[in-house]
Amino acid sequence: MGDTAELKLPEGQSIQLPVITGTEKERAIDIAKLRTQTGYITIDPGFGNTGSCNSKITFIDGDKGILHYRGIPIETIAEKSNFLETAYLLIYGELPSASELHRFVNDITHHTMLHEEAKRLYDGFPKDAHPMAVLSSVVAALSTFYQDEEGSPEEVFQNNCIRLLAKLPTIAAWAYKKSVGQPFIYPDNNRSYTENFLYMMFSLPAEIYQVDPEMARVLDLLFILHADHEQNCSTSTVRMVRSSGTNIFACIAAGICALWGPLHGGANQAVLEMLELIRQDGGNVQKYIELAKKKDSDFRLMGFGHRVYKNFDPRCKIIKQWCDKVLNKMQVSDPLLDIAKQLEEAALKDAYFVDKKLYPNVDFYSGIIYKAMGIPVEAFTVMFALGRLPGWLAHAKEFSDEEGNKLNRPRQIYTGPVNAPYVPVDKR
Ligand code: SDX
Repeated sequence: MGDTAELKLPEGQSIQLPVITGTEKERAIDIAKLRTQTGYITIDPGFGNTGSCNSKITFIDGDKGILHYRGIPIETIAEKSNFLETAYLLIYGELPSASELHRFVNDITHHTMLHEEAKRLYDGFPKDAHPMAVLSSVVAALSTFYQDEEGSPEEVFQNNCIRLLAKLPTIAAWAYKKSVGQPFIYPDNNRSYTENFLYMMFSLPAEIYQVDPEMARVLDLLFILHADHEQNCSTSTVRMVRSSGTNIFACIAAGICALWGPLHGGANQAVLEMLELIRQDGGNVQKYIELAKKKDSDFRLMGFGHRVYKNFDPRCKIIKQWCDKVLNKMQVSDPLLDIAKQLEEAALKDAYFVDKKLYPNVDFYSGIIYKAMGIPVEAFTVMFALGRLPGWLAHAKEFSDEEGNKLNRPRQIYTGPVNAPYVPVDKR
């Protein structure tokens, strides 16, 4: 018997609960038998102290600002890998051989087109539809084009994994083209993954469009940095939905909807809107630092703070370095980058942010680069979704592959009325 934790209950009973230790020495008290043994449950709104699963995919040490994909530091992956190789690593658990990688990339390259009837879905959206609404709708609708698939569950998952990785950039680019009233650009299979996305986003039938290879590489890096982040809100949503046994398209559509929120993936859009607000207000950074500290103000410093990181987000450090490189390369200066740097400097000197360990997170600088690339601000969270897709797929696979995983169905403590009477409508 390994370590145990003793729980003493008000009624006098005490029980021993098993303690489990992860490979990075994280410790948890296993309460799987708590209710059957004691009638008690635990409660933890926001799940800040509750582990939902064991996972072999990503490790985060929030105090040290550490992020590893399958045991490899994010800094190493960002420097040496590329997005599709990282996607393979996350989904299948190891770096692919050259032939495995070639086949994976080739399969994705040859599934980038959407069914022509799927293209007609776009006719139903208003021009100003938010692209996250389009993305989640079209992804969920993809399930109608791939029903009753032949093959084992593993083969079906593998095929649909490839389809989603291949088609999400096309779906995203077509959402943008719809919003600007330009013709949809079909994928070009002679281009790399991110090059193809930028081509579908910005090329026009009327002229030859050259993708800047350095921009394609920067986008590849951004996708790597966003690829997974253990049990964040959207990934936990994907696992929750997967637990009901539904198809992977429904799981990913749910993950997209969870990511949309401004407290999660929607923060990159909210950061740019906040920086623009400060710019229009004369760049008065200190005013907004003070506003963010006010208890009664609902203004928050978007792109700052994190449920897990109580140190610098390692992804933010890398993105910040690339901001300067990209803007220098494009020979553009962006006043919003200057404001962002001033905001970071002021916040990191302010006791409120220091005491609460609020540091810039992955969303704080990423929008500066997306803006420099010409990505519209309302599509910033779409970019996050494109990057996060491999993580969602990896966790959905891990959930399905693991023995013993069952329907996720949390308990609650009821605090509503008791023995309430039914009052007839003429007496109310
Ligand atoms: C992502 O989980 C993941 O891994 C997410 C992600 C991923 O890769 O999947 O990393 C991506 O979602 C990054 C986070 C993007 N969101 C934002 O940048 C929005 C701004 N940040 C916050 O809203 C907030 O920091 C959260 C939501 C991210 C985390 O908040 P928590 O953990 O729920 O903590 P909290 O809201 O309870 O805040 C603790 C204190 C509070 O003050 P007190 O009540 O203790 O007095 O810190 C304050 C908060 O008011 N606070 C902030 C703040 N963030 C927290 N005050 C001002 N500005 C902020 N940004």
